[in-house]
Amino acid sequence: MENSKRKFTCGELRKSDAGKKVVLNGWVSRTRDLGGLLFIRLRDRYGITQVMVGEKADEKVRQIAAGLKSEYCIAVEGVVNARAEKDINKDMPTGEIEVEATDIEIFTTSQELPFSIEEVRQKDGTLVLPNEDLRLKYRYLDLRRDPMQQNIILRSQVMFATREYLTSKGFLEIETPTFVKSTPEGARDYLVPSRVHPGKFYSLPQSPQLYKQLLMVSGFDKYFQIARCYRDEDARGDRQPEFTQIDMEMSFTNREEVLETTEGMMQYIFKKTLNYNLPAHFDRITWEDAFDLYGSDKPDLRFDMKMQDAAFMAELADFNAFKAGAANADKSIERHKRSGIKALVVKNAADKYSRKHIESLEAVAKTYKAKGLAWMKIDAEGIFEGGISKFYAGKEAEICSKLGAEKNDLILFVSDEKWQVACVALGAVRKQLGKDLNLYNPADEFHFAWIIDFPYFAWNEEENHWETEHHMFTLPQKKYWDMLESNPGAVKGDLYDLVLNGYELASGSMRINDPALQERIFEIVGYSRERAEKAFGFLVQAFKFGAPPHGGIAPGLDRLIMLMRHEESIHEVIAFPKNNLAACPMDECPSVVDEKQLQDLHITVTEREE
Ligand code: AMO
Repeated sequence: MENSKRKFTCGELRKSDAGKKVVLNGWVSRTRDLGGLLFIRLRDRYGITQVMVGEKADEKVRQIAAGLKSEYCIAVEGVVNARAEKDINKDMPTGEIEVEATDIEIFTTSQELPFSIEEVRQKDGTLVLPNEDLRLKYRYLDLRRDPMQQNIILRSQVMFATREYLTSKGFLEIETPTFVKSTPEGARDYLVPSRVHPGKFYSLPQSPQLYKQLLMVSGFDKYFQIARCYRDEDARGDRQPEFTQIDMEMSFTNREEVLETTEGMMQYIFKKTLNYNLPAHFDRITWEDAFDLYGSDKPDLRFDMKMQDAAFMAELADFNAFKAGAANADKSIERHKRSGIKALVVKNAADKYSRKHIESLEAVAKTYKAKGLAWMKIDAEGIFEGGISKFYAGKEAEICSKLGAEKNDLILFVSDEKWQVACVALGAVRKQLGKDLNLYNPADEFHFAWIIDFPYFAWNEEENHWETEHHMFTLPQKKYWDMLESNPGAVKGDLYDLVLNGYELASGSMRINDPALQERIFEIVGYSRERAEKAFGFLVQAFKFGAPPHGGIAPGLDRLIMLMRHEESIHEVIAFPKNNLAACPMDECPSVVDEKQLQDLHITVTEREE
């Protein structure tokens, strides 16, 4: 072939290109030999084009074609033919044409593959994937699969849209260091030993939090960064040791402006990349209501089903399990006066849930510390049956009217002396029911909401002290400043989370800019003056030079893409993620290093994994 460089991509050619002489480059996805005719599905990131090697082709070309195997990387020269009406493939954007090859050049061959790049499905339609470590070992091949290509392409588009939106609103993209001072809060740090400062370490940033606040002191009143963050915490589907935030901060601002800017950014991103219209404003739910109604501070609002307070149930009968709930001994935090008996009415589910099925729901509740899941059904005549119904015989009218329950409904209860335990456990059951009963369409709905009015402090039961719910730089709401020391449990923070489909997508807050207030917070959470000075002295010092009022937020980019693509794990939207042991099966990091390297870094290893 005279010039094997592509002139078109594999996703580009249409009927209107018929007759053109073209060169395509790509990978052989599959071949089909029909005796006289040989078909090649040629793939690149733009799509797939069918190549045909016909009887008229050169013998040399026919021979090369016959020897092609999956994932050979090749160039095809040929002529675009419009397909006959009956041969049009409506599932492929290039389905109206095929390229009749006049020449083929093999750039490189491919070994036998560890797994198929083409989609493999079981008879019932479920996707078959190799185990994750094999996929990660050959990640470059895994990334050739179409869903992975779409994930990574969307990620790039979202980053571009983010930059477009924020830049258009006057934000500056500013990089902050990734070798930073280790601060003893949040998750564990990843440390980097210093060669020139024996025994000293840099830390990789858990987030650019302090630096972005310092940039506000410097006068860059609107900052953003698509920032890599590092946290040494146990991996989960929605957590990685290194992940990316869309980190933002603004000066001379207030909560309203931060929320509106974030809403505007999400609307822009969803419209630009998915052509999806989000509402102009997202619902706002207080932290307390989120727990009370949905049992979570990251509720899945794609379905309504709200939990209800059922304190009255303890008065109607002498059912022991409800006594504890009625008392609500959640004294550790005095922020709510709600009972610990929560009820969930599941509409028309009486027939759908057998005793065994309800036991599986109870198991869910128990993993969230509930002592049990009480239940009763309402039969077709409106009479209670099963579960705890014997305690409430004859009380149907009163209970149904209070809970809004009707014939054929199932009612579930969790009672606990702690309001929050009851809420969380029944909330987990609610989530399971949403899935079981198909109460939402997992492939096509985005429900954003703001969670506001978080408690500022949380009581650490193990260590017996107050700690901050978000971080120590968050501003307590002004009306609580007088009671910071006297009643920390009642204080609410000027902080907000953005949730999407049951995930925490972003966290942010208005910040403290008064050094004296900052020092009060350090003290309440048990930081001695010296410890606070050592860890955060530079921030407090900066605040002494005219720090503007400021606030910000940081949506997690990986979680955003995961949710936009309806994936179950952020591993699917990161090109080279770590596995659940924070390792990479491909390059095998973390790895043992040379003794010389360790010596240079003044490090002695006392224990080494085999
Ligand atoms: P926070 O710690 O809540 O806030 O993080 C903000 C968002 O980052 C994402 N995220 C993660 N994503 C993947 N893997 C992880 N291990 C992980 N940890 C967090 C989540 C989360 O909502 N500096 C503050 C933000 C601020 O106040 O402006 C911060 O880092 O989507």
